[in-house]
Amino acid sequence: MRIEVPTYTERFGAVRIYNVQRIFELDSGLSDTENGRDDDPALTIRRIPYDSLINIERRMAIVVPCKQERLKILEGVLAGIPHDCLTILVSNSSRSPIDRFRMEQEALSQFCRLVQRSAILIHQRDPGLGEAFRAGGLPEVLDEEGLVRNGKGEGMLAGLALAKLCGKDFVGFIDADNYVPGAVNEYVKDFAAGLHLAQSPYAMVRISWHSKPKVTRRRLFFERYGRTSEVTNHFLNGLVSHYSGFGTEIIKTGNAGEHAFSLQLGERLCFSTGYSVEPYQYINLLELFGGVRPSPYPEVMEQGVEVFQIETRNPHFHENKGSKHVGHMRADALNVIYHSFICPEPLKGPIRECLQKDGTADSLDHPRRSYPPLRGLRTQPFLETLEREASTFQQIRPVITIPLPSEPLIPAPEPLGKEEGQAGGQRS
Ligand code: GDD
Ligand code: MG
Repeated sequence: MRIEVPTYTERFGAVRIYNVQRIFELDSGLSDTENGRDDDPALTIRRIPYDSLINIERRMAIVVPCKQERLKILEGVLAGIPHDCLTILVSNSSRSPIDRFRMEQEALSQFCRLVQRSAILIHQRDPGLGEAFRAGGLPEVLDEEGLVRNGKGEGMLAGLALAKLCGKDFVGFIDADNYVPGAVNEYVKDFAAGLHLAQSPYAMVRISWHSKPKVTRRRLFFERYGRTSEVTNHFLNGLVSHYSGFGTEIIKTGNAGEHAFSLQLGERLCFSTGYSVEPYQYINLLELFGGVRPSPYPEVMEQGVEVFQIETRNPHFHENKGSKHVGHMRADALNVIYHSFICPEPLKGPIRECLQKDGTADSLDHPRRSYPPLRGLRTQPFLETLEREASTFQQIRPVITIPLPSEPLIPAPEPLGKEEGQAGGQRS
């Protein structure tokens, strides 16, 4: 791949957010070929050889959250994920009257048999998964029935826990309703490119779509941003500007459903519920590492966090789920910004006004739920309970072979303290 080097960085405490990077060439050949130098720091375009991308992919799990998606589309998504990644399908599809989960299970098993690869599958609402989270010391993700709560964020959290059990270093997320397998393939390569470029072990890559095509008057219109993203980005940038004292439009990926991070970063983040999960990643990064309050992770403060935003070459075609759905998503996104302790008062009025126009301002009365970080998960009891109790947990060509420690790796940090610190809004 040949990719633009970031030319502009917005700093917020220990968090570095890079400007959107464009891709010049999707595949730039192997490292041992005469394809031009890739290590010249003066270059504005970096070449990342094909084998460097594969090296990252081998260490990466791709979590596919799936709820009631069309099987043919899901099959295309599976086919698009590069061979060396481990696919983890977390489904919340119906079990009756039609057992759609069973259909997904059969499709995944057949795919893996044909192409000889491993995968992991689980149903989000499997009581055994709920038991496993309880045994692992994370009962907060469970509802009154003891099942993992419904929601995309919760499905992603379950996927991250499985990736951690597999000893993966990186985790990426790809929606199950993407029409174009080639786009899926590119997203994962883009994840690998960003993670390859990262200098800190605490890195995140967020996909900025080239465009999101819509059919209008019998022709395709290649829209630049989705209806939720524009609003989310506006308020996230407003928040960053408030602290730095300079206007900015650095954030273009507030809602990026397709994103990846190093496990070392991901397991320290708090996930939030449903569709608020992606905007909350930005908020939580700034809460934890922005310097507004002391960070529970001094090791991260020392190395810093890098956030890459990579613009795809492929357009994003996915299922259209309607305006009501978009309205809910916007309410979820603005809710987590509004309720954060880093949200400045002057931003709260405009957020409320924006939701009033949508008719969803009442939703601000109910702050969205967020969960403790997975770093505190006790992996041994989690896995033992999963294997014993979760009937839908399936390893296709088993991958969980690492000996797990019986005690928590490192306990979850204490909740954030109350002292006010110094937020470092700066640009370079
Ligand atoms: N496991 C699981 N559990 N998966 C779910 C659930 C759930 O409760 N709810 C939805 N999903 C899956 C869907 O099947 C799909 O694969 C993916 O999560 C995204 O859900 P969509 O309903 O298709 O969301 P969207 O297309 O409107 O929004 C996407 O893009 C936004 C950015 O524009 C999502 O990725 C959003 O999270 C993102 O902010
Ligand atoms: Mg979708």
